[in-house]
Amino acid sequence: MRMKMIAGNWKLNNNQAATRTFVQNLESWFAAEPAGKKAASAAASGKIEIVIAPPFTSIEAARAAKKSEIIQIAAQNVYHESKGAFTGEVSLSMLEEAGCKYAIIGHSERRHVFHEPDEALEKKLIATLESQVLPIFCVGELLEERSSGNTEKVLARQLESAWKSLTSDVVGKMVVIAYEPVWAIGTGQTASDADAEKACDYIRSLAFEKFGIAASDSLRILYGGSVKPENSASLCSQNDIDGLLIGGASLEVESFEKIIETAV
Ligand code: PGA
Repeated sequence: MRMKMIAGNWKLNNNQAATRTFVQNLESWFAAEPAGKKAASAAASGKIEIVIAPPFTSIEAARAAKKSEIIQIAAQNVYHESKGAFTGEVSLSMLEEAGCKYAIIGHSERRHVFHEPDEALEKKLIATLESQVLPIFCVGELLEERSSGNTEKVLARQLESAWKSLTSDVVGKMVVIAYEPVWAIGTGQTASDADAEKACDYIRSLAFEKFGIAASDSLRILYGGSVKPENSASLCSQNDIDGLLIGGASLEVESFEKIIETAV
């Protein structure tokens, strides 16, 4: 049984005050509402993980505001070097110190807006696996790549370049993959359950070919791209989808709660 993950990627949203309010409201829901209590107990028994990824400057506000371990914190990005003349970058030890359990690597906005290449993402993945922080490694095809029938080719290239030097035990236990088709991100155009499942099943088959059955069975694969409370239940119940990475719908605590509710 793979532990589900519901992760909110806040992108460039939520300053410290908004972060504190969000965390307090979410924890009140866990403590007081029947659906929240059910989610909290699923989190306590290891059935689900609830993660938020605030901007760097709001991470400490999230850590300080939370009273329990139900909410885990992710960074939206990281740099592979540990220190030095790398203006604007943040290291893994800084994320550890700030209380991050996860770091998102290779989000489509990092790949396509900030032009991070596969080679840079491989370095980030390897460095993250050498730290206490766990990677949520994102892959996904552009619209033109899907239209030209190249979805699987793109996923294979992105994954194989990132995990070529990794071993089975590391991949199965420590890596979370997020399948996020670029055309579905922030567009309101969610992948169908069948298309999302097909891509996640393909990712698992790549893991099987390279790392074997134990690793591919335990690898957690999330879907992301215009997830909302209206479509989260069916996406989350697909065989190879172990959770959701949510952008826009994770910014309001009520819709994030509704999505959590559909996953437990
Ligand atoms: P979205 O973003 O849910 O707003 O489409 C998802 C993501 O970028 O992770």
